[in-house]
Amino acid sequence: MREHDEGRGLTRRRMLGIGGALGLMAATGLSASAALARRPSITGAELRSAVPLPPPFQVPLPIPAVLKPVGTSGGTDRYEITQREASAEILPGVKTPLWTYEGTFPGPTIESRRGRPITVSHRNTLPVPTVVHLHGGRTPAASDGYPTDLVLPEGWHDATMQMGHGSEHGMQGGMQDPRAVVTKVTRDYTFPLDQRPTLLWYHDHRMDYTAPAIWRGLAGLHIIRDDAEDDLGLPSGPRELPLMIADRAFAADGSLAYPSLDPTLRERPGVREPYLAGVLGDVILVNGAPWPVHEVDAARYRLRILNASNARHYELEAVTDDGRRLDLVQIGADQGLLAAPVTHRLLPMAPAERYDVVVDFSGVPVGSLVKVVNQLGSGRTRDVMAFRVARKATDGSRVPRALSTDLPSWRREDAVRVREFSFRAGRMHGGYGWLIGGLPFDPTRADVTVGLGDVEVWRLVADVHHPVHLHLVGFRVLSRGGGPPLPHDAGLKDTISLRPGESAEIITRFDGYRGRYLFHCHNAEHEDMGMMANLEII
Ligand code: C2O
Ligand code: CU
Ligand code: CU
Repeated sequence: MREHDEGRGLTRRRMLGIGGALGLMAATGLSASAALARRPSITGAELRSAVPLPPPFQVPLPIPAVLKPVGTSGGTDRYEITQREASAEILPGVKTPLWTYEGTFPGPTIESRRGRPITVSHRNTLPVPTVVHLHGGRTPAASDGYPTDLVLPEGWHDATMQMGHGSEHGMQGGMQDPRAVVTKVTRDYTFPLDQRPTLLWYHDHRMDYTAPAIWRGLAGLHIIRDDAEDDLGLPSGPRELPLMIADRAFAADGSLAYPSLDPTLRERPGVREPYLAGVLGDVILVNGAPWPVHEVDAARYRLRILNASNARHYELEAVTDDGRRLDLVQIGADQGLLAAPVTHRLLPMAPAERYDVVVDFSGVPVGSLVKVVNQLGSGRTRDVMAFRVARKATDGSRVPRALSTDLPSWRREDAVRVREFSFRAGRMHGGYGWLIGGLPFDPTRADVTVGLGDVEVWRLVADVHHPVHLHLVGFRVLSRGGGPPLPHDAGLKDTISLRPGESAEIITRFDGYRGRYLFHCHNAEHEDMGMMANLEII
């Protein structure tokens, strides 16, 4: 208990919430950058569970089931997903009600092939409207899950749509969105998947309520593969593991704790005061299990890691019983394979980022444990999961020195435009909010309009941590803090972690489809509290 409290004290000292950031600037007259020179390592506040928590490394690592198509027509595979309430035993002996895709958290994994389109028919049987977004997907706008393109549950009438900031007239965020395409109960989402193979994820994206919906369980994985990647000889089959890391907290009745102003998620968005900068849990789940353990051969494994946490950042390392740190050989980023592997000892991960990493357990004594630890955690949140090396084994896998040759090589000179966006705390609708370029999200405002095929450089500036995500496109990191990108910025990204007080430049070509897309902070609480903007491609 004492140790736990010390951990929390440390967390509090090192964290700087939105109120703190604003208060500090107001009280001292400091500029944001001066105030934030303290560089808090955590943006958000931690909830504490009210049930006993299990010891680490006891629960086996679950692997989410792979969803089977219900049929194929004209070369398109068709899937069906029902969004429904379910309950699961996440903590041993504790029943936790969830909102799920197909009854499980994480939802079922969809495995697809590059260039082979799929349709996913979603049926919403939850008590609130939902929206599905395939994060990292190169998706036509109609299927991209714009936050007002709601799928209404049965019996949900416009008269009951008291959504957003106290409005009572079927409005979103206090304003009508005339372009919203709303459907009743079901919606077919079509994904061409004409893109580099990678790990994507699908999650809820309803305006104002994305953070609590993901927290309750609306998230699943999607893996795109192709022949070129299959031929590389990377670890595969049981030696390829998807790892969805997410923190949660549990209330006394076993439900997931979350500081919603309106726990029905119907009438009033937002979270209580100490959590405005982000909601952190004190339990670390991997694939929905608390601090799990997985038995491995003494061989190479490919770990496909997603940080699906709302606000928690990680700096992951793999540590053996005798204190040795194993190499984390990064082979891929958010948007697929790197040109060549990059070796890390410590891997920073912001919300929504994915890293594709090979770890070699062959030098680890059989019977011993390799812990995956989060350097940014304290107390129980330092541990993430563990691997128990169970047996010697042969290993025919390899990590080629050249992984891919199709990475875009846009140069600064290719850009037709440079834009600059600040990501900062501010005032919104009379309260605290999170703003891009000084403005909170408004679905009816055109924030950025780009021509299809244009190359642009975007300069992004942050006050506290902001993982910035663009829909539709992958981008490359050009610079960070005025210097070169960091080693983990390699490859093609769709989410970049801006650290407190930091600026970064990204470059991309707005290719793919015309229509209305988004860019936003992927701290899910920030996203719900204004930090999102429209990206219109014409
Ligand atoms: Cu993963 Cu717009 O989000
Ligand atoms: Cu996305
Ligand atoms: Cu943010």
